Amino acid sequence: MKPANKTVAERRNYSVINVQSAKEVAFVWLKRAQLENAIDFGLPEIDDRYHVWRVPILHKTSQEHVGEIVIDARTSLILQDKSTDANTLEARLLGRNDSLAKKKKKRNGQYTLSSLRNTIASGDSEEILQDLPAQSIDLVFTSPPYFNARPEYNDYLDYEEYLLKIRKIIREVHRILAEGRFFVMNVSPVLIRRSHRNQSSKRIAVPFDMHRLFIEEGYEFVDDIIWVKPEGAGWATGRGRRFAADRNPLQYKPVPVTEYILVYRKESDKLIDWNIRAHPEPEIVKQSRIDDEYEKTNVWKIKPAHDKRHPAIFPLELAEKVIAYYSFKGDVVLDPFAGIGTTGKAAVKSGRRFVLIEKEPSYIEIILNEVKSWLGKSASTQILIGGNGWAINL
Ligand SMILES: C[S@@+](CC[C@H](N)C(=O)[O-])C[C@H]1O[C@@H](n2cnc3c(N)ncnc32)[C@H](O)[C@@H]1O
Repeated sequence: MKPANKTVAERRNYSVINVQSAKEVAFVWLKRAQLENAIDFGLPEIDDRYHVWRVPILHKTSQEHVGEIVIDARTSLILQDKSTDANTLEARLLGRNDSLAKKKKKRNGQYTLSSLRNTIASGDSEEILQDLPAQSIDLVFTSPPYFNARPEYNDYLDYEEYLLKIRKIIREVHRILAEGRFFVMNVSPVLIRRSHRNQSSKRIAVPFDMHRLFIEEGYEFVDDIIWVKPEGAGWATGRGRRFAADRNPLQYKPVPVTEYILVYRKESDKLIDWNIRAHPEPEIVKQSRIDDEYEKTNVWKIKPAHDKRHPAIFPLELAEKVIAYYSFKGDVVLDPFAGIGTTGKAAVKSGRRFVLIEKEPSYIEIILNEVKSWLGKSASTQILIGGNGWAINL
């Protein structure tokens, strides 16, 4: 054979001259360690700078790379200090690597699109959520009922009972939220007004208690966005007037002009990247890109919204931003405390589907009256279910 046609191994007079002989050497070593049945070999490569062959070792079932055997090409001896030692290989093959293999399988698992239609549900979320299929929701955006903030919301015995109610809903949502998707909550501390002159008013830090619930119920904290209302928006609470008049230290109380938008993700071993790459319709992902201006910081300046039909709505603009940043077109957006349906309206405007749950029949009436104007021609695809099991196709 002419020198030009010789392999590197032949030209260098190695004793291990090809891929097959490298595998044979490695196999003998593995047999001695009684690991030969649990592995496959990857493709051996020669590294002629160091005069070695590197033989990749793969888990037989998962085909995951678990180590390598390095062979001195000139002597055909295994270089123990450069190779993965037998104990480590064994642990990876038999134990830890099994769970790795499972994880990998899961990570490559199917990404299913929700088949839910636009839905308006009348009743208590705690019950209605139980009727929704697992992983059928792609995003939750909501603003929970206020604790004692206004007499009409005074449904709970005490604050603990209020938190328990919200916890049950956060827990049930966890089941129906798709893998690695987001739960975004608009919430702010509430002011408990004094009932006597010799009492002081109190502020309850509701967002921080909500945070605890989310973490305990299997969500991962992602972001705290501060919704700032233009100056003057909070003066109606009367907070800060006393200090403004007397200017005594310790009496200082700033006028609250912000609310929190807390962002959580359902805990998952999958990266957000997976949610993007595994989406079965790449064209939809492309169409969902936010190519225009976007909020670059966690401070969002948005005018509050008012509607004489409901005391505590959030602005459409806020819902539209959240939906654009945390869902894809075609996704299903849930609001378990829907009020007059701002989330639903924003979802339709943004090309998403909605699931709205509201316990006050008068607010459901409002949604029903407006939904056709949001949906236009596709109104016939919209379905209404109730806490007592009835369902109507509109
Ligand atoms: C802060 S408001 C939400 C307003 C809504 N974001 C909007 O823009 O119209 C909270 C709503 O939750 C509703 N609610 C309270 N408890 C509920 C429950 N257990 N199930 C369903 N809705 C509930 C209240 O009737 C109220 O309309």
